[in-house]
Amino acid sequence: MMAKVNWTLAFLFALTMLANFTLRPDPSVPTLEILPNMVHSAAYASFTPNPVLPEGKTMQLPVPGTLPRGFQPLHYQGTEAEALRAAAELKNPLDPEKAMARGTVVYQNFCTPCHGGQLRGDGAVALHGYPAPPNLKGDKSMKLTEGQMFHILTFGQKKMPSYAVQLTPEDRWSVIAFVKAAQNQSAAPAPVPEAPK
Ligand code: HEC
Repeated sequence: MMAKVNWTLAFLFALTMLANFTLRPDPSVPTLEILPNMVHSAAYASFTPNPVLPEGKTMQLPVPGTLPRGFQPLHYQGTEAEALRAAAELKNPLDPEKAMARGTVVYQNFCTPCHGGQLRGDGAVALHGYPAPPNLKGDKSMKLTEGQMFHILTFGQKKMPSYAVQLTPEDRWSVIAFVKAAQNQSAAPAPVPEAPK
């Protein structure tokens, strides 16, 4: 017995097949936006005035008593007395060996311009007129504790600018590990002679 053909379904099937091959949308034309406000939300840019939010500002201050993610409070001020307190109290939380790779990169990028590749204070910036930093392998700098270096990198010291904005606390501790290791290297009995210029 032959199966009965449902002509309505057969017709609809043929119609969709036809539509499939004839109605090819142009891929270079954007599709229809039914709710354009959902597609392009009318967001306020961070620094623009805002009639909806308090004080008319878009970017709001953090809620009192909250800390930004990853923020580590530092309970020191930028004074000399506080530098001495930091010198005595602050310890490098990083494993010096693990910090070395990052510390080397940070030193090369942020410190060589003034302090020079050998820490002697003869970087390009110093050679072009910026007050030369002291030799970090000199007697005075050798006595700096890591805590004091952290204070210097955070708050600056005289002509040495603060690096608190450019370097995260972890990067500061990493570069301190590098400087300490370089200083200790120079304390070794036989210094490597420099190649003739
Ligand atoms: C713009 C040039 C400049 C850059 C860049 C710079 N320093 Fe200095 N640094 C100085 C000067 C100048 C001094 C001397 C400040 C003073 O008179 O006390 C100094 C001092 C220091 C001291 C204290 C030395 C001492 O005996 O008191 C340390 C430690 C130090 N810098 C580390 C760094 C490290 C680490 C970096 C890289 C993150 C860095 N500096 C980047 C210019 C610079």
